[in-house]
Amino acid sequence: MIDKRPDREDSPEQLLELAVDTARQAGELLRQGFGTAFHVANKEGEGRHNLVTEFDNAAEELILGRIRERYPDHSFLAEESGAAGTASTGTIRWIVDPLDGTVNFAHGLPIFSVSIAAELNGELLCGAVYQPMLDEMFSACKHKGARLNGKGISVSGTARLNEAILVTGFPYNVNENPGQCIDHFARMLQQGIPVRRLGSAALDLAYVAAGRFDAFWEVFLHPWDFAAGRIIVEEAGGCVTRYDKSAQTLAGGNILATNGLLHDDLAAHLH
Ligand code: IPD
Ligand code: CA
Ligand code: CA
Repeated sequence: MIDKRPDREDSPEQLLELAVDTARQAGELLRQGFGTAFHVANKEGEGRHNLVTEFDNAAEELILGRIRERYPDHSFLAEESGAAGTASTGTIRWIVDPLDGTVNFAHGLPIFSVSIAAELNGELLCGAVYQPMLDEMFSACKHKGARLNGKGISVSGTARLNEAILVTGFPYNVNENPGQCIDHFARMLQQGIPVRRLGSAALDLAYVAAGRFDAFWEVFLHPWDFAAGRIIVEEAGGCVTRYDKSAQTLAGGNILATNGLLHDDLAAHLH
């Protein structure tokens, strides 16, 4: 049972504790549902491969329910239910993707995550990205560093693009080549650089934070895809911006996340 103390000021550490605990519970729900017979539908008007399962909704309900129980006055931006609560200055907002990697989940591929972040006045306070199938919890709290299952992590030290391993993702309308996403992908491959596509942007970012990948880029992400991952990369010593190196706000759009050392080189390729 969660301790209810709605009137208390809560520190980023306390918010993170709840994010981690909640992401773990939602992840457990997904892990139990993985591979079972569940209903899969297409999201209206969002590309024929943008799927939603009953587990996206169940996990989101669990997450919002637990956070609301503890913080009835906080507001939310969650993928399946949208914005809720007063998104005013001074109000903490939780940004939630209950299942990042739905296409993988729906096809029996065990690469997906739960992503939960908290922000105040546009500034991220903490974030948790949980990979239930591997029981890996990536987390970060503002100014306190990033962790994987409680141990400190940091971005890689790769300084040359020709020694890097990269990861990217594509939007559901990739066939229309928005923002030249296919050209960018081809450009990297043509240089002989290994590029992966995992299908969960939150995990892509968490893996950059852990030094498994040197960089990640994607032409369009929603805030719930990257909010938690962004603070985890930053706290692991990495750099997250838009392609043109301007600040990646919580409005969404294109994103470039690197170990810092490769940032300029990669940004030069994404035009
Ligand atoms: C998607 C995944 C994918 C990325 C897409 C996202 P979803 O999120 O993060 O890796 O390439 O752009 O929409 O739909 O599985 O929550
Ligand atoms: Ca997502
Ligand atoms: Ca999702």
